[in-house]
Amino acid sequence: MDLFEYQARDLFEAHGIPVLAGKVATTPHEAKRAAAGMGGKVVVKAQVKIGGRGKAGGVKLATDPDDAFAKAEAILGMDIKGHTVHKVMIAQAAPIKEEYYLAILLDRAARSFLVMASVAGGMDIEQVAHETPEKLAKVHIDPAKGIDAALAQSIAQQAQFPSDVQKQVADVLVKLWACFVAEDATLVEVNPLVKTEDGRVIALDGKVTLDDNAGFRHPDHEALVDHASTNPLEALAKEKDLNYVKLDGQVGIIGNGAGLVMSTLDVVAYAGEKFGGMKPANFLDIGGGASAQVMADGLSIILNDKDVKCVFVNVFGGITACDAVANGIIQALEMLGNKATKPIVVRLDGNNVLEGRRILKEANHPLVEQAETMDGAAARAAELAAK
Ligand SMILES: Nc1ncnc2c1ncn2[C@@H]1O[C@H](COP(=O)(O)OP(=O)(O)O)[C@@H](O)[C@H]1O
Ligand SMILES: [Mg+2]
Repeated sequence: MDLFEYQARDLFEAHGIPVLAGKVATTPHEAKRAAAGMGGKVVVKAQVKIGGRGKAGGVKLATDPDDAFAKAEAILGMDIKGHTVHKVMIAQAAPIKEEYYLAILLDRAARSFLVMASVAGGMDIEQVAHETPEKLAKVHIDPAKGIDAALAQSIAQQAQFPSDVQKQVADVLVKLWACFVAEDATLVEVNPLVKTEDGRVIALDGKVTLDDNAGFRHPDHEALVDHASTNPLEALAKEKDLNYVKLDGQVGIIGNGAGLVMSTLDVVAYAGEKFGGMKPANFLDIGGGASAQVMADGLSIILNDKDVKCVFVNVFGGITACDAVANGIIQALEMLGNKATKPIVVRLDGNNVLEGRRILKEANHPLVEQAETMDGAAARAAELAAK
């Protein structure tokens, strides 16, 4: 889960990383009140989960509370790279002298953690890496050792931070690491980390990604979820403990096993090219031991998707044999009753396949059609979806 900047700011503050006052607002009136409460100049910042807000006009200085009202009015509702602004953060304005970059991330390719630090902050770090790689220090971190004061100091030196801020930058890095570990983050990024006119080092913009797989250790992270923008079908699937991801096609997909479902998406997209570009509408893995209830839950979510025109159930019988799956499909359709309205192409293979096919054939459900091969089923599902 990616956090909004104001959530990252709060998290940084909780871990002792120096930040400025910041308050979230959803209306110009709230923005004005927040600015009045802070006093002095403020910055009105669009809260969207995408970078480059400054360049897009989503970060504006306001001289007084009335100006904050006007700036918030201009920014709220703005579209930044496809993200609509529903909230702004009113942040105390910093007298910036220099802008730096500091981040810790999970470097999957290197199977390690990585610190990236640069005195060329404020701008796109990809651009710095590309144009002036010598200005970007990259240091891998041994997870068992972490980042202590001495290592942080040496990274600050390596990245050529001015000597007057090295100690402060090192201190931020140690705390950033503590935050990264304690919160089970996969990314904590500060861009810019600034030096102010009076020599203080402060995190002005924060980007944090939390590892959802560690969610069970962090009941408090639930409060950070942006329910308003969560796809309602995905929310429903999560409630039912299903591995579901909404995609933008027309063929609903149910399969058992993540690998099989992934390849099902591929064959459907490929077969769909012949039928006006039909595509998979979702990823749904109902797992190995799928019961009739799980099949019913999965089918009902997919049938509720208004984009879905046809469903492809692709099951390879293993521990749960094909006859059990076939019975599960029939029972699921009974449970759904007249809520089931779209054609369902079923391809069964693997353990006890003949019995599974026989059960479906005898049930003779008007919506269910069988196909013998995965490619054949994908083509038929795409064809039905295009009708
Ligand atoms: N609180 C602040 N006070 C003064 N300037 C700010 C403040 N927050 C951001 N800025 C300026 O705006 C620029 C862009 O803001 P930032 O929060 O980094 O958004 P983004 O990275 O999405 O463009 C920063 O590089 C900095 O120069
Ligand atoms: Mg930034």
